Amino acid sequence: MSGVNEIRSTFLDYFRKNGHEIVSSSPLVPRNDPTLMFTNAGMVQFKNVFTGLESRPYTTASTSQKVVRAGGKHNDLDNVGYTARHLTFFEMLGNFSFGDYFKERAIELAWNLVTKGFDLPKERLLVTVYAEDEEAASLWKKIAGFSDDKIIRIPTSDNFWQMGDTGPCGPCSEIFIDQGEHVWGGPPGSPEEDGDRFLEFWNLVFMQFEQTAPGERTPLPRPSIDTGMGLERMACILQGVSSVFDTDLFKTLISATEDVVGARAEGDQAASFRVIADHLRSSAFLIADGVLPSNEGRGYVLRRIMRRAMRHMQLLGAREPLMYRLLPALVGEMGRAYPELGRAEALISETLKLEEGKFRTTLARGLSLLSDATETLGKGDSLDGETAFKLYDTYGFPLDLTQDALRARGIGVDLTGFNDAMQRQKAEARASWAGSGEKATEGVWFELKEKFGATEFLGYDTESAEGVVQAIVREGTVVGEAKAGETVQIVVNQTPFYGESGGQMGDSGVISTDGAKLSVTDTQKKGEGLFVHAAVVAEGVLKTGDAVVLTVDHARRSRLRANHSATHLLHEALREVLGTHVAQKGSLVSPERLRFDVSHPKPMSAEELARVEDMANAIILQNAPVTTRLMSVDDAIAEGAMALFGEKYGEEVRVVSMGTGIEGAKAGKPYSIELCGGTHVASTGEIGLVRVLGESAVGSGVRRIEAVTGEGARAYLAEQDERVKALASVLKVQPSELLPRVEALMDERKKLEKELADARRKLAMGGAQGGAASEVRDLAGIKYLGKAVSGVDAKDLKSLVDEAKTGLTSGVVLLIAVSDDGKASAVVGVTADLTERFSAVDLVRVASVALGGKGGGGRADMAQAGGPDGAKTDEAIEAVAAAIAG
Ligand code: ALA
Repeated sequence: MSGVNEIRSTFLDYFRKNGHEIVSSSPLVPRNDPTLMFTNAGMVQFKNVFTGLESRPYTTASTSQKVVRAGGKHNDLDNVGYTARHLTFFEMLGNFSFGDYFKERAIELAWNLVTKGFDLPKERLLVTVYAEDEEAASLWKKIAGFSDDKIIRIPTSDNFWQMGDTGPCGPCSEIFIDQGEHVWGGPPGSPEEDGDRFLEFWNLVFMQFEQTAPGERTPLPRPSIDTGMGLERMACILQGVSSVFDTDLFKTLISATEDVVGARAEGDQAASFRVIADHLRSSAFLIADGVLPSNEGRGYVLRRIMRRAMRHMQLLGAREPLMYRLLPALVGEMGRAYPELGRAEALISETLKLEEGKFRTTLARGLSLLSDATETLGKGDSLDGETAFKLYDTYGFPLDLTQDALRARGIGVDLTGFNDAMQRQKAEARASWAGSGEKATEGVWFELKEKFGATEFLGYDTESAEGVVQAIVREGTVVGEAKAGETVQIVVNQTPFYGESGGQMGDSGVISTDGAKLSVTDTQKKGEGLFVHAAVVAEGVLKTGDAVVLTVDHARRSRLRANHSATHLLHEALREVLGTHVAQKGSLVSPERLRFDVSHPKPMSAEELARVEDMANAIILQNAPVTTRLMSVDDAIAEGAMALFGEKYGEEVRVVSMGTGIEGAKAGKPYSIELCGGTHVASTGEIGLVRVLGESAVGSGVRRIEAVTGEGARAYLAEQDERVKALASVLKVQPSELLPRVEALMDERKKLEKELADARRKLAMGGAQGGAASEVRDLAGIKYLGKAVSGVDAKDLKSLVDEAKTGLTSGVVLLIAVSDDGKASAVVGVTADLTERFSAVDLVRVASVALGGKGGGGRADMAQAGGPDGAKTDEAIEAVAAAIAG
């Protein structure tokens, strides 16, 4: 019954039987709190339920919550490995009442579980209560039958529980067990309380207040209950061991470490094994919940934890990355209770390997620097801050790693010197950007970045989160508040809004507080790491320091995601269809459509485009998961990831893979692998459909394709379909018969046009009976046909003149056509036998002059001219007649 996994299920089953809803653990990165670094207690996910902001379909609940206490108010990092009970990651079992039961029932439930469910001997148990909480003391007397000496009144904050600087809080009562005289320590409140003999294992918090600001508390709508039992501590007790590291789960992890490093967890080395086992758990669970190592915020806490563990690995003799090899043991122990661990196993493994590989390159040199610098130091001395900073800056030793390394020798670190060195470096960085020619208006972002550090981006995992306003900027100047109607830029400590980059447009959405609402129109990255929200205050007043809820426009972001993922698929498909010379030259991912420029020397054929589209859609239909991993650039490229030439990448990059290749060299392998910081669909099916709209040229050797996806593609195709149906109905055929029908219509039209032209000509020349003959004049032996024709296009005049020349055998022809706007076109033809005497060019010029024009051109037997004066056709005919008659 006493294995960790059984204890967890005994606890949850007990509360289920007592009417509690069993709720899953929330992620380690809180979604509903602007200030908490990590989920540090079971109640975090219920924070707004306690305060009445949120309601749930149940009033009592029970959880087994993942907790990390490394950074922020509850930070146990420095103690881990050196005490029997501190952990950075642990599981907190809890029961909660949201205005349902209060103190009495909470104590009753706890007492029954402890003494009947877990069978702990009553005589070894004792409790603490908050000194002012007489009610709790008398309830313990009544329910547990405790005498006064078993109820210890604590007047300090130790028995007043707070989640953080703000949030629900209240007096608490803790249950302790006496582990026996063989363990050193005294009861709570005594000078020896830090010893391990009296072990606290369950904290019952009587939630009564909400801390709204330092020194300000308001009562909760209804008194509530929040409890937290350390699962690992309960395992200690039930397994009869005095250290959490001797429980079954940790023993498995430690023995896996022994196998991997080839050393035993004994003597001085034992602490290293404990640190590694704990840090492995916190690292793995943090990575599974979306945190990746970095130099800021949560990522930096993770990096510190990982690097500490890795230094201990090195102490145990590891000469290559080994942490990741412990992962199967951890997944084996905890993967069933926390399936996210198994799902993220590959990501965790690669992240550990990468970090360890990278750190190892400087670890040995850093340790030797450290040992040189401390050679002459002894217990009570301090390492100078300058060296500690150099270890931090050049060798990647987080400060607490250096402290940890010196701890066993009783050596400290000069923190003032360390901070001075850090400030000096920042000042130098500031001087360099100030002199880098950045516009003055951009300077404000660098200043804010320096002051607050980079914005933490939460948007890979969530579209809604809370944050604290760090700065409001209006027209380039930092201001304290923004009122309704004002347009401002806002910096928040953490945000789910994506800042425009890599072609993907920034997110829009809403930022709100209790009293203010802002509409975010765009998000941009500035000052190397800040996410800046461009917003209009719709109502109320927003102030610096306000806690805000940030909500990304979900529909728009979904379309951006689909379009971005489709861009990756099209990129790969283009390389397959056109060849690997195809490289991305730019892209724009907007909610409406995607635009993608690639190097390719010639236009793409319709058939090529269709193949590209088919391939991309085949991967969409696979509905394959899209995976993201963090890797070094070199490893990513070695894996075949497509990187953009000339793009600046950090040391580590996100690598996004999707789909499985269907044919050719990619068959069975990952289809698309790209370095990308954008946001993507979870599985390709979410793209729905990709439809290429067309391709065009942009500059030499660069082609642009545009496409739509999902709803956009559906709307586009629906519109096309409507057109086809309307056309079919006009033509009175089935859509499938449209093409032959239209082809037939076109043929018919051509035929009719020809017939019409013939008919018009005939009519112009006087009808089928050759009426023109009667108009032929004889001018001193030269036959002359001069005639204005109607209904004939200027372009048809020449052929009419030719026909008339043939009819005359020998003679001169002048035909004039007048267009609808009154302009005249004239053509003169002279039969070959007469070109010696008359030039068509000269004669047409005569006609042109009469028509108000300036002459024309052509050959001696045929010439053409025009004139504006279409009313003067008779004059022109007579003028030419006169010229012939001489
Ligand atoms: N929230 C309480 C704690 O973490 C139960 O101790």
